[in-house]
Amino acid sequence: MTQDTLGLDATPIAMAHGANSRKVFIKTYGCQMNVYDSLRMSDALAKDGYVQTEDMGEADLVLLNTCHIREKAAEKVYSALGRLRDMKKLREEEGREFVIGVAGCVAQAEGEEILRRAPAVDVVIGPQTYHRLPQALARVRDGERVIETDYAVEDKFEHLPVAEKAKLRSRGVTAFLTVQEGCDKFCTFCVVPYTRGSEVSRPVSQILDEAMKLVDAGVREITLLGQNVNAWRSTGPKGEEWGLAELLYRLAEIPGLARLRYTTSHPRDMDDRLIEAHRELRALMPYLHLPVQAGSDRILKAMNRRHTGEEYLRLIERIRTARPDIAMSGDFIVGFPGETDQDFEDTLAIVEAVKYAQAFSFKYSTRPGTPGADLTDQVPEDVKAERLERLQARLLKQQNDFAQSLVGKTMDVLLEKPGRMPGQLIGRSPWLQSVNLDAKNMKIGDIIHVRITATGPNSLFAEVA
Ligand code: SAH
Ligand code: SF4
Ligand code: F3S
Repeated sequence: MTQDTLGLDATPIAMAHGANSRKVFIKTYGCQMNVYDSLRMSDALAKDGYVQTEDMGEADLVLLNTCHIREKAAEKVYSALGRLRDMKKLREEEGREFVIGVAGCVAQAEGEEILRRAPAVDVVIGPQTYHRLPQALARVRDGERVIETDYAVEDKFEHLPVAEKAKLRSRGVTAFLTVQEGCDKFCTFCVVPYTRGSEVSRPVSQILDEAMKLVDAGVREITLLGQNVNAWRSTGPKGEEWGLAELLYRLAEIPGLARLRYTTSHPRDMDDRLIEAHRELRALMPYLHLPVQAGSDRILKAMNRRHTGEEYLRLIERIRTARPDIAMSGDFIVGFPGETDQDFEDTLAIVEAVKYAQAFSFKYSTRPGTPGADLTDQVPEDVKAERLERLQARLLKQQNDFAQSLVGKTMDVLLEKPGRMPGQLIGRSPWLQSVNLDAKNMKIGDIIHVRITATGPNSLFAEVA
């Protein structure tokens, strides 16, 4: 990751310089689905003559691919836009084009407000209309300020080009592939059903086609993405109904595709077939992100999660019976309105029972337009902060314990990128950890058997077994 002049991380990007081509700088916020979308926007823009740059200073177009999940995430966008406005002024004095675009979930949720609050913005485009980006930019060049936030009737994926092989190859041996978008669950804290719309599954043929292109370009590991990926449904080749399990079995047949993952799942959509796939499919990595959010049944009900703490624990037990070496990851919210000390203790009890290998936890953030925003019993900030600190200390301890438990064990790692020292490579463990090792006669994309020798702050060290 490099620092750009916004003081933010830039998304690493492959570059191919054409002398007269326009350049686009894309800044990605939020979840993996935005990371995937940014690549697809880059591909659509490449058809339009744009080359991607990591240096915002040379960009003719800056696109912010934004996240609306918590208040802080949304506010970041407006401060970035303030800095971009100043840049645009300088550029205009030099007589150079500088187009500012806002994409992603803030664009969808606050489109009109962005145009009002940030006069320098030229185009606002929601996640369902990225295939219309080139036309939108043409309209900007004709002097319009463009807003595209309708849920498109046409399928964006059918119209978004997949990059050519060389460009795909430059993106490495692991890849994301969005198979499902949107959410019908309406958890009372969450904006996603409003920013991404209702659940839509991509058809099998489209997914297979894209997966095969990725594998042909050297990809060995694909992570299927969806806001509710395990709610993916479509029809198989004989017209039969397929769920995510059937899709995983089919993808595992692609020669060269060694590893599969999927994220994010909702506990209510973990069906028997999918649990069975964890037992049977060696390509399916033993790692599952299955957020619970809270441990108290009262809070789970108020969140509209539609399962109890006990049901969640029993589900994990069934998954672990099917795949004993599976590691769990989760998301938590502390300080949902009405959360008492006892409710919070229930969350800690779930954490103790599950033993997470990895987890993300957040203070509840009130989001306009969600049912949670109308609740009166808000938890004070200092109480939220104190609970978050306690929770994160537990989760960090569990993460370290898990890493420690692997020392001395052997495992397969997928070699992913060069390491810090010459001769070193960084691989990825079945449980998504980075593994550093000295690698002679090995190349990126190889899967090798290693023994873990030590743990570092955020990674493991290994030697060839
Ligand atoms: N579809 C996923 C979650 C997507 S949002 C699921 O159902 O689990 C990613 C995470 O952000 C959520 O799991 C939740 O922990 C957190 N989150 C969402 N809305 C939030 C809010 N209003 N305040 C704090 N955290 C929130
Ligand atoms: Fe948000 Fe709930 Fe849907 Fe996840 S399942 S995206 S938390 S509404
Ligand atoms: Fe954020 Fe939208 Fe993803 S709100 S978490 S970028 S779906």
